[in-house]
Formats: sequence, structure tokens, C-alpha cells
Amino acid sequence: MKKTILTGVKSTGIPHVGNYFGSFKPSIEGAKAANMRSFLFIADYHALTTVKCAAEMKENVNEIACTWLACGLDLKKTAFYRQSDVPQIFELAIILSNVTPKGLMNRSHAYKAVVQDAVDAGKDPDVDVNMGLFCYPILMSADILAFDTNFVPVGQDQKQHVEIAQAIARSFNAIYGSVLVVPEPKITKDQATIPGLDGRKMSKSYGNQIPMFAPEGELKKYIMKIVTDSSLPTDPKSTDCVIFDLYKLFATDDEVHVMKSKFENGIGWGEVKNELFRVANRTLTPLREKYNYFKSNPEIVEQLLQDGAKKARKVAQKTLDRIRKSIMG
Ligand code: TRP
Repeated sequence: MKKTILTGVKSTGIPHVGNYFGSFKPSIEGAKAANMRSFLFIADYHALTTVKCAAEMKENVNEIACTWLACGLDLKKTAFYRQSDVPQIFELAIILSNVTPKGLMNRSHAYKAVVQDAVDAGKDPDVDVNMGLFCYPILMSADILAFDTNFVPVGQDQKQHVEIAQAIARSFNAIYGSVLVVPEPKITKDQATIPGLDGRKMSKSYGNQIPMFAPEGELKKYIMKIVTDSSLPTDPKSTDCVIFDLYKLFATDDEVHVMKSKFENGIGWGEVKNELFRVANRTLTPLREKYNYFKSNPEIVEQLLQDGAKKARKVAQKTLDRIRKSIMG
């Protein structure tokens, strides 16, 4: 029996180069390499805790779907779907809530952070807590357990959520026998190693990002904005800098080698930036073209998501049949 790998993504706004190298690219390559049954979904009902506007919801889902498709997600190997298209997940969430101690939810970092913010502001602790937020880990457990998932690749910040899914699966199994597969988190490296324009980690919150799908002219402008020192073109340069780090992500090994010796012998920053633009544009152009294609063909995106949802529902229904039998006889 093939093992199952599953992960969910929330929309992160406009995707940037840091997201590409830190998340999209490794996930897609990982899924290609692994001989596993693979599921990747857009966690749109998780976004409901904060997004209360239909147009924004739709736009976010479309943005994230187009991005994954542009990055070359292999749809033959991976079922790619929108969580809200798989009702079995929500049925399972209700079932799981009955074996979940409230105390387990009280300890969830995400919930505690919202409570802490309110307390710090001198407000009622629960003022910003809706039950969607409080029960977020139960829904996430249902996402995972509905597919008999073995491995869940997530960032460090989501580790506790996967551990909650383990705890819930175990408490269900303690009552009903070995019905649910207990999943394991697979912690992915964080994006700290991918620098933004100012040398800090590339992040929307620092405003130092290079958008993944910026048109050529804009991409060039971003690269020209990278902060450099005032050394002369003839001065040798240290490779310990943002430009070189970014260059390494986009260039081939041979190109990196050549660039390194140019740094040692002296090269002007303008020339380095032009060369970085050339390799970045070479990588990003095919992605941008695919992204634009999907953006202008929403009905194709919708069809692909529907195909994925169909596959996902079939698998989840089988799990649900087994679960219902164990509870209802
Ligand atoms: N909570 C995750 C995040 O914010 C997204 C998510 C929802 C998820 N359901 C999941 C991740 C199931 C892994 C498995 O990033």
C-alpha cells in the first residue's frame, strides 16, 4: 500500500521569489520524487476565520491556484483541490470534535496568541475569538485524517497543529479501535536563507520582496534596487552578500563558479545586477507565462480544481464509510 502525503495551503497574498524557493519549488519537486499518493489543497474554509468578503475569498483562491499550476504541479500524481469542495472533511470535523478535549484546543498557539493580544490591549480575552479560530485545529485534523495521511509537510509554525491531529487520532482510536492513521509532521526548512532586497529574510512584512510574476521590466527594477556597497568595479568583492545569494538560487553551478572568480578579481555592481536579472528572468519567464495563461483562463483552473476535488472526495468517502461504521455499527 502506497504511503500518503498531504498538505494544505492558505493564500499568502502575492507570491514572491522567497515563497518560490522556500515553498512552491521544494514541494513540487518533493511530490515528483516521492512514490506516494499525494494531496495538495487550498484551505479556503480555514481562511474564513479572518476573511469575510466573498470577492476577496475568490481572488485569494484563484491567485494561489494559478501559482501552484504555474510552478508545474504534476496533476497526475497530486490531487489538487479546494477544501470547501470536499464535504466529507466537514462531516469528519464534527465527528472528531466529540473526541477532542476542550483543553487541547485551549493550548493551541494560534488561539492563545489571539487571546494574548486582546489581554495585552486590556480587552476581554475572547473578544477576537470565533469558534472557527478555536476549532481550527479540529478542522485541520479532519483535512489530514480524512485521507489516511502518513506524512504532512509543514513549516515549524504548523507543527503543533499536526501534533494535535495525532492526539485526536489517538483518542478516537482509543475508543473505536485502530480506525484512523496517525500522521507524522515533516518539518520543511524555513525561508530564512532567502534574502530580500535589503538583505533581511524576504518577507511581505518587510516590503523587501521580489514578486514571482512581475513583468520583465518590473523585475529588472526590483533587482536594480538591491542595496550594494560603494566599492569600485575594480575592487574585489565578498560573495557574502544578497546579490550573490540570489544569484546562486537562479544560476547554474558553472555560472556561479564564473561569477565567484569575477567577484574575486573585481566586477562592477551594475554588471552583477544585469547578470542576476538575466538568470532570474530566465527562470521566471516560463512561470510568468504559465501564470498569465491560467489567470486569463479561470474556467480551466476551475475545471482542474473540480477534477482534483472529485479524486479527493472519492478517497475521503472511503475513509468516512469506515469511520461511520466504527461509530454507528
Ligand atoms: N494551517 C495551515 C497554515 O496556516 C494550512 C492547513 C490547513 C494545513 N489544513 C492543513 C496544512 C492540513 C497541512 C495539513 O499554513
